[in-house]
Amino acid sequence: MKNPKRHLITSALPYANGPLHLGHIAGAYLPADIYVRYLKLKGEDVAFICGSDEHGVPITLRARKEGVSPQDIVDTYHEMIKKAFAEFGIAFDIYHRTSDSLHHETASDFFKTMYEKGEFIEREEDQFFDEQEQQFLADRYIVGTCPKCEYEEAYGDQCEKCGTSLSPKELINPKSKLSGNVPVLKTTKHWYLDLEKYQNEWLEKWIDGHKKDWKSNVYGQCKSWLNSGLQARAVTRDLDWGVPVPLEGADRKVLYVWFDAPIGYISATKAWAQQNGKDWKDYWQSEDSRLIHFIGKDNIVFHCLIFPAMLKAHGDYILPENVPANEFLNLEGDKLSTSRNWAVWIHEYLLDFPDKQDVLRYTICANSPEQKDNDFTWKDFQTRNNSELVAIFGNFVNRTLVLTQKYYEGKVPARGELTNFDKKTLTEISVIKGNLEKSIENFRFREAVKIAMDLARLGNKYLADTEPWKVIKTDEERVKTIMNISIQITAALSIIMEPFLPFTTEKLRNFLNIEKLSWDLAGKSDLIDAGHIINKPELLFDKIEDEEIEKQIQKLMDSKKANEAENVKVEPAKNNISYDDFVKMDIRTGIILEAEQVPKTDKLIKLKIDTGIDHRTVVSGIAVDHKPEDIIGKQVSVLVNLEPRKIRGIESQGMILMAEDASGKLYFVIPEEKISSGSVIK
Ligand code: MF3
Ligand code: ZN
Repeated sequence: MKNPKRHLITSALPYANGPLHLGHIAGAYLPADIYVRYLKLKGEDVAFICGSDEHGVPITLRARKEGVSPQDIVDTYHEMIKKAFAEFGIAFDIYHRTSDSLHHETASDFFKTMYEKGEFIEREEDQFFDEQEQQFLADRYIVGTCPKCEYEEAYGDQCEKCGTSLSPKELINPKSKLSGNVPVLKTTKHWYLDLEKYQNEWLEKWIDGHKKDWKSNVYGQCKSWLNSGLQARAVTRDLDWGVPVPLEGADRKVLYVWFDAPIGYISATKAWAQQNGKDWKDYWQSEDSRLIHFIGKDNIVFHCLIFPAMLKAHGDYILPENVPANEFLNLEGDKLSTSRNWAVWIHEYLLDFPDKQDVLRYTICANSPEQKDNDFTWKDFQTRNNSELVAIFGNFVNRTLVLTQKYYEGKVPARGELTNFDKKTLTEISVIKGNLEKSIENFRFREAVKIAMDLARLGNKYLADTEPWKVIKTDEERVKTIMNISIQITAALSIIMEPFLPFTTEKLRNFLNIEKLSWDLAGKSDLIDAGHIINKPELLFDKIEDEEIEKQIQKLMDSKKANEAENVKVEPAKNNISYDDFVKMDIRTGIILEAEQVPKTDKLIKLKIDTGIDHRTVVSGIAVDHKPEDIIGKQVSVLVNLEPRKIRGIESQGMILMAEDASGKLYFVIPEEKISSGSVIK
């Protein structure tokens, strides 16, 4: 849209059943926040909307498990998430919630309007029912064996092992998640959104029209759904938690969470408008408003197909102009996972690095998974801080401000005649600003943050080439010009960096002793007048030491370990043997006398062992976990009457006993104290 009057920017409503992690921020929140800060600096009229998604089966299951109400769960996490966003500088205009009565009313009215327009298909169908609990088993209330991969804990809507979408009746051996009982089939009535009809009437055409302006990953996913043909989807569920279906005879039925949640964007806008003397309809129901949804890739189908279908079927609403969904951010080469605790939790980050929000914002943005999945590593985080924020941005600002203090006691000097190099440098600022605008407006934030950093590079280069610290000895007038220009670049940085590094630019404005400047000023060469007094500067960024990074990596390793320990699948017991079978084995204690790696193998060590009976050779596959030089002199348990056999041409006369943990690591099995070799183990 050319020159829209208003921008309605939404970020996916996070489920209020767990804390925020890095992946959330990278997907839907940081890009939106950057975009909104940019628009606001440009003086645009923007509503930046988010809130907690507080319905859905996982929340009720969690509440049940913890013996509390679903409301308790969402109350806890709503507050926690809201606080983390605020502290991390994700500056929504409102952070609302879907358990709020305004939302219930809004979602309910939305459904009623669609119902009255005859948009729903009403269907009676047999669904699984838990007789003991007297409850229908929607979505994740039912588990069973996946028909595709035979995973035994597949859900009624999806197998998390192989990713297949399922319907409850496809599960083999379905079981109720509530009672564990085998469910019965019982007839129930639900309302369906006729997506097939919308696909044929307009939806496919509408998506096709966005082939050029939507990201290819987003457009591609939509097309693949459309190509396999959309089908009617139920928008109601038999459940007690959610927005009640506002129809006669729909007791104990609620709106499907994916029906009510996106309507949460509308209710949140209403709440914001009420609090700020605005009219929410200007944003949602006016053709000169533009709607942009920021989401992660797992939400594409809901925001690009289903919610637009709802908005259009309702009739009063605009459709999204763009949905710049991101791919996923991985962590240290592994998929982020809440259940495996493989994550950097934002509330924990804020405790460990209380004044370093911008370092994480910068690192995430620089690695933003825009076209494909990307990786976050702590090492990269450290490098981004030390070699970019500290060494480039921080260094330039510090030199400029310190020299201004030193030479002029903080009073910005007037500039004299400009050299060609000065002029070129000043022009370059507005070139950078222009490029930056293009990147941000096209949702290319990785590229954008790099361009923003180019301005700091430009500043460094300017100082390095003009060398005011040398020139001061010979030409004081010239240095005034150099420092004036450096101050102008610093002021431009305080604007241009704001979308990415809002905490830093606030500091910078304090150093410069200026108010927030609007975006368009960033291209001007006289942002700060001669004679203006700046404050005494401090460092913008601090170096991050290896220790801090190692601590974070250790934390991840610990959680991986803990998680593995929890998930150990113990091997089932073998068949019984007789006592006679057991005593056939002759197991003795021994000492390792010699040990050497068997050439051309990774695993094998040739051992010479004192068994108390004799000295003998044993070949053992323990080299992955144990180095030959470390185990000489070690006590071992040896099965001495195992028939000798040749391993890699070496005759192995027995076997040493090792315990193997779930990860495959081997440990020596030995008496608790050193005892004489040849002692019998029985
Ligand atoms: N809660 C969903 C998720 O985390 C996102 C909901 S977005 C909304 O995947 F549009 F439905 F609100
Ligand atoms: Zn499966």
